[in-house]
Amino acid sequence: MTERQIQISYQEYNSIEEMNPEDRELAAEAIKAMQGAYAPYSHFHVGAAVRMSNGQIVRGANQENAAFPSGLCAERTAMFAAGARYPDKDMLSIALAGGVMGRLGREPATPCGACRQVMAQYQAKSGKPMSVIMISSDRIWKFEKVDDILPLIFNSI
Ligand code: THU
Repeated sequence: MTERQIQISYQEYNSIEEMNPEDRELAAEAIKAMQGAYAPYSHFHVGAAVRMSNGQIVRGANQENAAFPSGLCAERTAMFAAGARYPDKDMLSIALAGGVMGRLGREPATPCGACRQVMAQYQAKSGKPMSVIMISSDRIWKFEKVDDILPLIFNSI
């Protein structure tokens, strides 16, 4: 038996201003995107913004439904819109922000497992790392690639 370890490193910023201009812009777009949330049940508003290889930014926000599983997270709303709008372009980065009643939370919004899996697939499609930026009012985390938030990604078919 061999004990193995998986190591993950990420960057923590104390404010959006500390980030490079591209990430700063994407983070600001994710925060703006929270305004598009439709969350009458959870009241938790999430915004996401995807940067494409052609420089375009595509936003999304969570959309809830009375038939609960029919709703969709902000990240997948943004990624599916981006994939449909720019099928030949790569998704280079995704930022997300969330908070109760549209007020940015103090802990970074972290993506659910299903959204991580969808990120992984678009990253595999492009063959380039997709960075993931998680935002809160107090700090921001940046992961350089989806593998860092979804180790041992399923890619067997
Ligand atoms: N939500 C997202 O939009 N993204 C996530 O990664 C986790 C959760 C949404 C779904 C639902 O509308 C609300 O947050 C509460 O779960």
